[in-house]
Amino acid sequence: MGRPAKKKLRGEMNAFPNVIQYTQSDAKNLQGRWQSQFKNHNPLILELACGKGDYTVALAELFSDKNFIGVDLKGERIWRGAKTALEKKLTNVLFFRSYIDHLAEYFSAAEAQEIWITFPDPHPTTKGARKRLTAPRFLTLYQKILQPQGRLHLKTDDEALFDFSLRGLKEAGWQITEEIRDIYKTTDVAPLLSIQTTYEKRHLAAGKKIYYLQAVPPEA
Ligand SMILES: C[S@@+](CC[C@H](N)C(=O)[O-])C[C@H]1O[C@@H](n2cnc3c(N)ncnc32)[C@H](O)[C@@H]1O
Repeated sequence: MGRPAKKKLRGEMNAFPNVIQYTQSDAKNLQGRWQSQFKNHNPLILELACGKGDYTVALAELFSDKNFIGVDLKGERIWRGAKTALEKKLTNVLFFRSYIDHLAEYFSAAEAQEIWITFPDPHPTTKGARKRLTAPRFLTLYQKILQPQGRLHLKTDDEALFDFSLRGLKEAGWQITEEIRDIYKTTDVAPLLSIQTTYEKRHLAAGKKIYYLQAVPPEA
């Protein structure tokens, strides 16, 4: 996408009522108060690295009694998810453009019931390991913003990242409640797992297996 096209999308996105950006001076005031944006007290589910928000929107359609926030840094991707949510008139979806690294400044302890991470960048080199969204510093962050007995869900095509994540979660005391190494091995795929993101479709077209895990944070 060229620079003018990106600029146009950013301009449009700035006016969307369902997008909040870390650059807004009042964004930090939402810490602990996200439910006020939805005008109810329904549970809050986050999708991190949401890209075009495929999971966020699909989950919101499935669960009208829960609130969903898709988080990503890239404005033109957030634009797509936010636009779709507006077209579908979904009132239980917001998008937050932010660095995931800084989420503790925007969400209070135990504010989220679940976190989904779908197809995060694998950062395969040792040098890039810190940037993996399941690196220890991120697990500490998720533990903080998740409720006790909350759930972390990870979907990836990358076996090395999957094993790295499992290892890190176990070392940090998380309980692994589900581990599937090829979700499409069976024809009976759980509805929650059969939602396919932009990246998942690419990986499936390339013949890759899809891995899934679910974990519960350690007790504080
Ligand atoms: C490979 S894409 C996957 C997008 C989407 N989940 C999907 O499956 O189609 C990874 C996404 O993570 C986002 N991302 C990576 N690191 C991030 C960070 N530290 N903070 C916010 N977004 C991040 C990128 O902007 C990108 O959209």
